[in-house]
Amino acid sequence: MFNHGTLERHSLLLVAAILVVVAIGGIVEIAPLFYLESTIEKVQGMRPYTPLELAGRKIYIREGCYVCHSQMIRPLRDEVERYGHYSLAAESIYDHPFQWGSKRTGPDLARVGAKYSDEWHRAHLVDPRSVVPESVMPPYRFLENTELSFDAAGELAANRMVGVPYSDDMVASARADLIAQATPDDEGQDAFKKRYPKAEARDFDGDPKRITEMDALVAYLQMLGTLVDFKTYQADAPENRR
Ligand code: HEC
Repeated sequence: MFNHGTLERHSLLLVAAILVVVAIGGIVEIAPLFYLESTIEKVQGMRPYTPLELAGRKIYIREGCYVCHSQMIRPLRDEVERYGHYSLAAESIYDHPFQWGSKRTGPDLARVGAKYSDEWHRAHLVDPRSVVPESVMPPYRFLENTELSFDAAGELAANRMVGVPYSDDMVASARADLIAQATPDDEGQDAFKKRYPKAEARDFDGDPKRITEMDALVAYLQMLGTLVDFKTYQADAPENRR
């Protein structure tokens, strides 16, 4: 280059020039993130997590399930045949932080919802080898004996601060909704189902008298990947285009 000798002989000038070049690379990577709203295609069916699911998700993170499980199906033939439709960016839109993971000691869990019964999940979490004899997954027996302690309203409000569209009504009713989802004959059922369409309410841990960490984790596992209906989803349908 014509003036390169000058740059190489003046260290400060060289540093300044390096910063300019690096800044260009930085802008190219970072600027699109400010327009994330418009780069993620919308899909039908997505809704924010219910308070009980959010509690289960927190247990999932606390117990380090992501160390062995990803939640990200890549658009490769073997993955799609094994796990189902590849993951869409919009399916992680309410995840803070997202759980894509980078290691699969166990299978991907992005679409594990509704694959097994609640009983299966309970037996599996209490003692994985009771249902999958060759499993190397550790047991999480304490979940079914640990009463769920979760600041539902606070957690919803915190998620709202980072962009999850929880309404005032949802934050105010967070505690009631958490109880309603895990208690089949609770009087708050109807209000809960109105706030979270298609959310499933039942006794997830097999003990209707208590709400345990098992209730929350099973509720979370059972909804993973079930929100978008892939029988009707088409990537280039008008409602999915912007
Ligand atoms: C040390 C690695 C490891 C950790 C940590 C781990 N798992 Fe697993 N998991 C496995 C392996 C291996 C399998 C496959 C064998 C089996 O089904 O048990 C598995 C299977 C599963 C399955 C069944 C998936 C399917 O499609 O059949 C679920 C659900 C699951 N794990 C949930 C969890 C949850 C929830 C946690 C955290 C509380 C967790 N795992 C922690 C290794 C792990």
